Amino acid sequence: MRRIFSGIKPTGLLHLGNYLGAIKQWVELQNKVDESIFCVVDLHAITALRPENLSENILKIAAWYLACGIDLEKSKIFVQSMRPEHAELTWILNCFSTMGELNRMTQYKEKSEGKKDSVSVGLFDYPILMAADILLYSATDVPVGEDQKQHVELARDLAIRFNNIYAKSGSGSRDIFTIPEPIIDAGVRRIKALDNPLKKMEKSSASALNYIALDDSPDEIRKKIQRAVTDSSDEIVAREDKPAMTNLLNIFSGVSGRDIKSLELDYRGKNYGEFKKDLAEEIILFLKPKQKKFKEIFADKEKLRQILTDGSESVAPIAKEMLGKVKKAIGLGI
Ligand code: AMP
Ligand code: TRP
Repeated sequence: MRRIFSGIKPTGLLHLGNYLGAIKQWVELQNKVDESIFCVVDLHAITALRPENLSENILKIAAWYLACGIDLEKSKIFVQSMRPEHAELTWILNCFSTMGELNRMTQYKEKSEGKKDSVSVGLFDYPILMAADILLYSATDVPVGEDQKQHVELARDLAIRFNNIYAKSGSGSRDIFTIPEPIIDAGVRRIKALDNPLKKMEKSSASALNYIALDDSPDEIRKKIQRAVTDSSDEIVAREDKPAMTNLLNIFSGVSGRDIKSLELDYRGKNYGEFKKDLAEEIILFLKPKQKKFKEIFADKEKLRQILTDGSESVAPIAKEMLGKVKKAIGLGI
C-alpha cells in the first residue's frame, strides 16, 4: 500500500518553486498511489514568523491545491492544527531525538544564522513536527523539494529508531512506523530566486522580484522576468557556471513541459531579451487557467471550509490509531 503525505506552510503566497518543486509532483502521483493526503501545515507557519491573515492564507493554500489539480476523488486535504495528534506525536518524538541531530539541520542553520539564541524553540523543533506529520499517516512517499530531503531523512531515522526499540523482532509484533521515502523530482530540484540565482525562490523574501507568485498578473510576470538576473555572456545554456540561465531554463522547461536540451537548441544564437520575452509569455499561459480556477474556488469560502473539515474528519481515524499504538508501545497512560 502506497500512501503519499506532503504539505506547504501558509506563510504567504505560493510561487513557481512551490508548484514545480512540490505540487506538480503531487498532482501526478495522486493517480499512481493508493492514497494521498495533502496538508496545509499551519503549525509550521508560526515557527519563524507571525504571519498576517493566517486563517485566510490557510484557505488560499487549500484553494491553490485544488486549482492546481489536487482531486478530492483521489486525495484528502486538511489543516494540520485541526488534528491535535500532530502536536502530541511531536512531543513524544522530541523525546527520541537529540539536540545534535537537530543542530545539523541545514534549514535550521540557515534560518538561525546570525540570530543565535533569539530564534524560537519551534524553529529548532520544526523537523520533529514534520516527522510527526509523516509518521502519523504511515506515509510511504513524501514528495518535496530538494530542500526538505534532510527533514524526511530525519523522519526515517526516527521511525527506524522507534521501531528498533519497540517492535520486538521475532516475537511476532510488527513495526509501528512505516519508513518514508522522500520523492524529489530529478528534473526540477530547486528553483532559484530570480534576483539571486544562488538562493532558492522563497515566499518570505523581502523583495517581490525574488519570485513569481502563482497569482501574479501578466504585467507583473513580464516585469519580473525582464528584471531577472542573468549571467555574464549572452549564451542560453544550462551549465554550472551559468546559474541564472540554468534556473530560467529550468523554469521554462517546468512550465512548458519541453526539455532543456531542446530549449537550448531553439535559443542558440538568440539573445537574452528574446528568451525572456518568450519565457514570460509561457509562464502567463501556464498560470492563466490555474488562476481562473483559484478565483472560482476561493470565492466560496464556506465550501472550502467544509472540504477541509471533511478532510480532517476523514484522516482522523488514521492519526488516532497511530498515536494510540505509539502510546501503548511506550506505556503512556493506563
Ligand atoms: P514551503 O514554501 O517552504 O512551505 O515549501 C513547500 C514545498 O515547496 C516543499 O516541498 C518545498 O521543498 C517546495 N519548495 C519551496 N521552495 C522551493 C523552491 N524554490 N524550489 C523547489 N521547491 C521548493
Ligand atoms: N517543512 C515543509 C516545507 O517547508 C512542509 C512540511 C511540513 C511537510 N510537514 C510536512 C512536507 C510533511 C512534507 C511532509 O516545505
